[in-house]
Amino acid sequence: LYGRKPFISGNWKLNPQTKEEALTLASGIASSINENSPDVDVALFVPYVFIETAISAVGGKLAVGAEGVCPHNSGAFTGGISTSMVKSIGVNWVLAGHSERREIFGETNDYINAQCLKIIDDGMSVMLCIGESLDEFELDLAGSVCEVQLKKGLMGIRKEELDRVAIAYEPIWAIGTGKVATPEIAQSVHAKCRAILADMYDQEAADEVRILYGGSVTPESVDDLMNQPDIDGALVGGASLDKDKFGRIINFKT
Ligand code: G3P
Repeated sequence: LYGRKPFISGNWKLNPQTKEEALTLASGIASSINENSPDVDVALFVPYVFIETAISAVGGKLAVGAEGVCPHNSGAFTGGISTSMVKSIGVNWVLAGHSERREIFGETNDYINAQCLKIIDDGMSVMLCIGESLDEFELDLAGSVCEVQLKKGLMGIRKEELDRVAIAYEPIWAIGTGKVATPEIAQSVHAKCRAILADMYDQEAADEVRILYGGSVTPESVDDLMNQPDIDGALVGGASLDKDKFGRIINFKT
Protein backbone atom coordinates (compact mmCIF):
# COMPACT_ATOMS: atom_id res chain seq x y z
CA LEU A 1 0.00 0.00 0.00
CA TYR A 2 3.06 2.27 0.16
CA GLY A 3 1.72 4.24 3.10
CA ARG A 4 -1.78 4.64 1.71
CA LYS A 5 -4.41 4.11 4.40
CA PRO A 6 -6.75 1.24 3.48
CA PHE A 7 -10.30 2.27 2.67
CA ILE A 8 -13.21 -0.15 2.95
CA SER A 9 -16.53 1.16 1.77
CA GLY A 10 -20.02 -0.14 1.24
CA ASN A 11 -22.51 0.90 -1.43
CA TRP A 12 -26.06 0.08 -0.38
CA LYS A 13 -27.53 1.07 -3.77
CA LEU A 14 -31.38 0.82 -3.62
CA ASN A 15 -31.33 -0.92 -0.22
CA PRO A 16 -32.64 -1.44 2.42
CA GLN A 17 -36.33 -0.58 2.16
CA THR A 18 -37.08 0.89 5.59
CA LYS A 19 -35.54 3.34 8.00
CA GLU A 20 -35.58 0.69 10.73
CA GLU A 21 -33.55 -1.73 8.61
CA ALA A 22 -31.09 1.03 7.73
CA LEU A 23 -30.64 1.84 11.41
CA THR A 24 -30.07 -1.79 12.40
CA LEU A 25 -27.65 -2.43 9.54
CA ALA A 26 -25.60 0.73 10.10
CA SER A 27 -25.27 0.15 13.83
CA GLY A 28 -24.43 -3.53 13.29
CA ILE A 29 -21.66 -2.56 10.88
CA ALA A 30 -20.30 0.10 13.26
CA SER A 31 -20.13 -2.44 16.06
CA SER A 32 -17.77 -4.62 14.01
CA ILE A 33 -15.11 -1.90 14.26
CA ASN A 34 -13.11 -2.45 17.42
CA GLU A 35 -9.63 -2.00 18.90
CA ASN A 36 -8.37 -5.05 16.97
CA SER A 37 -9.55 -3.75 13.61
CA PRO A 38 -6.93 -2.70 11.07
CA ASP A 39 -6.15 1.01 10.78
CA VAL A 40 -8.68 1.59 8.03
CA ASP A 41 -11.05 4.27 6.78
CA VAL A 42 -14.60 2.99 6.50
CA ALA A 43 -17.44 4.65 4.63
CA LEU A 44 -20.98 3.63 3.82
CA PHE A 45 -22.66 5.11 0.76
CA VAL A 46 -26.37 5.03 1.50
CA PRO A 47 -29.61 6.32 -0.06
CA TYR A 48 -30.21 10.00 0.73
CA VAL A 49 -33.23 9.33 2.92
CA PHE A 50 -31.16 7.16 5.27
CA ILE A 51 -28.10 9.38 5.57
CA GLU A 52 -29.06 11.07 8.83
CA THR A 53 -30.31 7.81 10.33
CA ALA A 54 -27.04 6.08 9.44
CA ILE A 55 -24.94 8.95 10.79
CA SER A 56 -26.70 8.79 14.13
CA ALA A 57 -26.41 4.98 14.21
CA VAL A 58 -22.67 4.75 13.60
CA GLY A 59 -21.61 7.17 16.33
CA GLY A 60 -18.66 8.60 14.39
CA LYS A 61 -16.99 5.20 13.89
CA LEU A 62 -17.25 5.47 10.13
CA ALA A 63 -18.20 7.99 7.45
CA VAL A 64 -21.59 8.06 5.80
CA GLY A 65 -21.56 9.21 2.19
CA ALA A 66 -24.03 9.95 -0.58
CA GLU A 67 -24.45 7.69 -3.61
CA GLY A 68 -24.35 10.68 -5.93
CA VAL A 69 -25.20 14.33 -6.39
CA CYS A 70 -26.65 16.61 -9.03
CA PRO A 71 -23.85 18.87 -10.35
CA HIS A 72 -26.00 22.02 -10.13
CA ASN A 73 -26.24 24.52 -7.29
CA SER A 74 -29.98 25.00 -6.99
CA GLY A 75 -33.03 25.67 -9.06
CA ALA A 76 -35.23 23.77 -11.50
CA PHE A 77 -33.72 20.26 -11.34
CA THR A 78 -36.61 18.09 -10.16
CA GLY A 79 -35.41 15.14 -8.11
CA GLY A 80 -31.91 16.52 -7.79
CA ILE A 81 -29.89 16.60 -4.57
CA SER A 82 -27.08 19.15 -4.32
CA THR A 83 -23.69 19.00 -2.68
CA SER A 84 -24.77 21.75 -0.26
CA MET A 85 -27.76 19.67 0.84
CA VAL A 86 -25.77 16.56 1.67
CA LYS A 87 -22.93 18.58 3.17
CA SER A 88 -25.40 20.30 5.48
CA ILE A 89 -26.38 16.94 6.99
CA GLY A 90 -22.82 15.76 7.61
CA VAL A 91 -21.69 14.12 4.37
CA ASN A 92 -18.12 14.38 3.17
CA TRP A 93 -17.75 11.50 0.68
CA VAL A 94 -19.81 11.23 -2.50
CA LEU A 95 -19.77 8.53 -5.20
CA ALA A 96 -19.60 9.43 -8.88
CA GLY A 97 -19.44 7.44 -12.09
CA HIS A 98 -20.82 4.14 -10.84
CA SER A 99 -21.48 1.85 -13.82
CA GLU A 100 -25.16 1.62 -12.82
CA ARG A 101 -25.43 5.42 -13.09
CA ARG A 102 -23.63 5.31 -16.43
CA GLU A 103 -25.69 2.43 -17.85
CA ILE A 104 -29.14 2.77 -16.29
CA PHE A 105 -29.33 6.51 -15.79
CA GLY A 106 -27.33 7.46 -18.88
CA GLU A 107 -24.72 9.55 -17.07
CA THR A 108 -21.90 10.49 -19.43
CA ASN A 109 -18.23 11.17 -18.73
CA ASP A 110 -18.97 14.90 -19.09
CA TYR A 111 -21.78 14.79 -16.54
CA ILE A 112 -19.66 12.69 -14.18
CA ASN A 113 -16.82 15.19 -14.57
CA ALA A 114 -19.23 18.01 -13.65
CA GLN A 115 -20.24 16.06 -10.53
CA CYS A 116 -16.60 15.45 -9.55
CA LEU A 117 -15.74 19.13 -9.99
CA LYS A 118 -18.78 20.24 -7.97
CA ILE A 119 -17.95 17.84 -5.14
CA ILE A 120 -14.32 18.98 -5.02
CA ASP A 121 -15.16 22.69 -5.42
CA ASP A 122 -17.54 22.40 -2.49
CA GLY A 123 -14.76 21.02 -0.29
CA MET A 124 -15.96 17.43 -0.22
CA SER A 125 -14.32 14.17 -1.32
CA VAL A 126 -15.24 12.08 -4.33
CA MET A 127 -14.94 8.39 -5.05
CA LEU A 128 -14.85 8.08 -8.85
CA CYS A 129 -15.91 4.66 -10.12
CA ILE A 130 -14.51 3.34 -13.38
CA GLY A 131 -14.44 -0.02 -15.10
CA GLU A 132 -14.91 -1.96 -18.31
CA SER A 133 -17.69 -4.22 -19.58
CA LEU A 134 -17.22 -7.93 -20.24
CA ASP A 135 -16.81 -7.33 -23.99
CA GLU A 136 -14.19 -4.70 -23.35
CA PHE A 137 -12.40 -6.98 -20.89
CA GLU A 138 -12.33 -9.80 -23.42
CA LEU A 139 -10.93 -7.44 -26.05
CA ASP A 140 -8.18 -6.48 -23.60
CA LEU A 141 -9.51 -2.93 -23.38
CA ALA A 142 -9.71 -2.59 -19.58
CA GLY A 143 -6.72 -0.25 -19.45
CA SER A 144 -7.99 1.98 -22.28
CA VAL A 145 -11.51 2.20 -20.85
CA CYS A 146 -10.11 3.15 -17.46
CA GLU A 147 -7.83 5.71 -19.09
CA VAL A 148 -10.73 7.48 -20.80
CA GLN A 149 -12.92 7.39 -17.68
CA LEU A 150 -10.09 8.63 -15.44
CA LYS A 151 -8.94 11.40 -17.78
CA LYS A 152 -12.46 12.62 -18.55
CA GLY A 153 -13.79 12.15 -15.02
CA LEU A 154 -10.95 14.02 -13.34
CA MET A 155 -10.54 16.75 -15.95
CA GLY A 156 -9.94 20.07 -14.19
CA ILE A 157 -9.14 18.53 -10.80
CA ARG A 158 -5.81 19.85 -9.64
CA LYS A 159 -2.94 17.88 -8.13
CA GLU A 160 -3.37 19.53 -4.73
CA GLU A 161 -7.01 18.38 -4.68
CA LEU A 162 -6.16 14.71 -5.24
CA ASP A 163 -6.08 14.01 -1.51
CA ARG A 164 -9.87 14.32 -1.72
CA VAL A 165 -10.16 11.83 -4.56
CA ALA A 166 -10.35 8.04 -4.40
CA ILE A 167 -10.80 5.76 -7.39
CA ALA A 168 -12.90 2.59 -7.39
CA TYR A 169 -12.04 0.14 -10.16
CA GLU A 170 -15.18 -1.91 -10.68
CA PRO A 171 -15.14 -4.22 -13.70
CA ILE A 172 -18.80 -4.37 -14.75
CA TRP A 173 -18.58 -8.13 -15.33
CA ALA A 174 -17.74 -8.59 -11.65
CA ILE A 175 -20.52 -6.43 -10.18
CA GLY A 176 -23.26 -8.42 -8.54
CA THR A 177 -22.29 -11.52 -10.51
CA GLY A 178 -20.39 -13.45 -7.87
CA LYS A 179 -17.46 -13.41 -10.34
CA VAL A 180 -14.79 -11.50 -8.44
CA ALA A 181 -11.75 -10.47 -10.49
CA THR A 182 -8.71 -12.51 -9.52
CA PRO A 183 -6.27 -10.56 -7.36
CA GLU A 184 -3.80 -10.70 -10.29
CA ILE A 185 -6.25 -9.20 -12.79
CA ALA A 186 -7.34 -6.51 -10.33
CA GLN A 187 -3.74 -5.71 -9.41
CA SER A 188 -2.72 -5.35 -13.03
CA VAL A 189 -5.55 -2.89 -13.82
CA HIS A 190 -4.91 -0.97 -10.58
CA ALA A 191 -1.24 -0.63 -11.54
CA LYS A 192 -2.32 0.65 -14.98
CA CYS A 193 -4.66 3.16 -13.36
CA ARG A 194 -1.86 4.39 -11.15
CA ALA A 195 0.39 4.78 -14.20
CA ILE A 196 -2.38 6.77 -15.92
CA LEU A 197 -2.65 9.02 -12.85
CA ALA A 198 1.14 9.46 -12.90
CA ASP A 199 0.88 10.50 -16.53
CA MET A 200 -1.94 12.96 -15.71
CA TYR A 201 -0.27 14.40 -12.61
CA ASP A 202 3.05 12.92 -11.48
CA GLN A 203 4.29 9.76 -9.81
CA GLU A 204 4.26 11.20 -6.30
CA ALA A 205 0.65 12.32 -6.67
CA ALA A 206 -0.34 8.97 -8.19
CA ASP A 207 1.28 7.09 -5.31
CA GLU A 208 -0.96 8.90 -2.86
CA VAL A 209 -4.31 8.18 -4.50
CA ARG A 210 -6.22 5.26 -3.06
CA ILE A 211 -7.54 2.85 -5.67
CA LEU A 212 -10.25 0.52 -4.39
CA TYR A 213 -11.46 -2.65 -6.05
CA GLY A 214 -15.19 -3.35 -6.40
CA GLY A 215 -17.08 -6.31 -7.81
CA SER A 216 -18.36 -9.27 -5.78
CA VAL A 217 -15.99 -8.69 -2.87
CA THR A 218 -16.76 -11.12 -0.03
CA PRO A 219 -15.17 -12.17 3.26
CA GLU A 220 -13.58 -15.02 1.27
CA SER A 221 -11.95 -12.82 -1.37
CA VAL A 222 -11.03 -9.66 0.53
CA ASP A 223 -7.75 -10.77 2.11
CA ASP A 224 -6.06 -11.82 -1.14
CA LEU A 225 -7.22 -8.64 -2.84
CA MET A 226 -5.97 -6.45 0.01
CA ASN A 227 -2.58 -8.14 -0.17
CA GLN A 228 -1.94 -6.73 -3.64
CA PRO A 229 0.36 -3.70 -3.69
CA ASP A 230 -1.92 -1.40 -5.69
CA ILE A 231 -5.23 -2.44 -4.14
CA ASP A 232 -5.92 0.01 -1.33
CA GLY A 233 -9.42 -0.96 -0.39
CA ALA A 234 -12.77 -2.29 -1.50
CA LEU A 235 -16.10 -0.88 -2.61
CA VAL A 236 -18.62 -3.50 -1.62
CA GLY A 237 -22.21 -3.84 -2.82
CA GLY A 238 -24.11 -6.99 -1.86
CA ALA A 239 -21.92 -7.97 1.08
CA SER A 240 -22.30 -4.50 2.63
CA LEU A 241 -25.95 -5.36 3.31
CA ASP A 242 -24.91 -8.08 5.75
CA LYS A 243 -23.33 -6.81 8.94
CA ASP A 244 -21.33 -9.98 9.55
CA LYS A 245 -19.96 -10.20 6.03
CA PHE A 246 -19.14 -6.50 5.83
CA GLY A 247 -17.72 -6.63 9.36
CA ARG A 248 -15.32 -9.37 8.27
CA ILE A 249 -14.36 -7.37 5.17
CA ILE A 250 -13.57 -4.32 7.34
CA ASN A 251 -11.41 -6.60 9.51
CA PHE A 252 -9.46 -7.94 6.52
CA LYS A 253 -6.16 -9.69 7.16
CA THR A 254 -2.90 -8.91 5.45
O1 G3P B 1 -20.27 -0.27 -5.86
C1 G3P B 1 -20.18 -1.58 -5.44
C2 G3P B 1 -20.47 -2.54 -6.48
O2 G3P B 1 -21.01 -2.12 -7.64
C3 G3P B 1 -20.11 -3.94 -6.32
O3 G3P B 1 -21.28 -4.63 -6.03
O4 G3P B 1 -22.60 -6.48 -5.18
O5 G3P B 1 -20.68 -6.92 -6.71
O6 G3P B 1 -20.24 -6.17 -4.40
P1 G3P B 1 -21.19 -6.15 -5.55
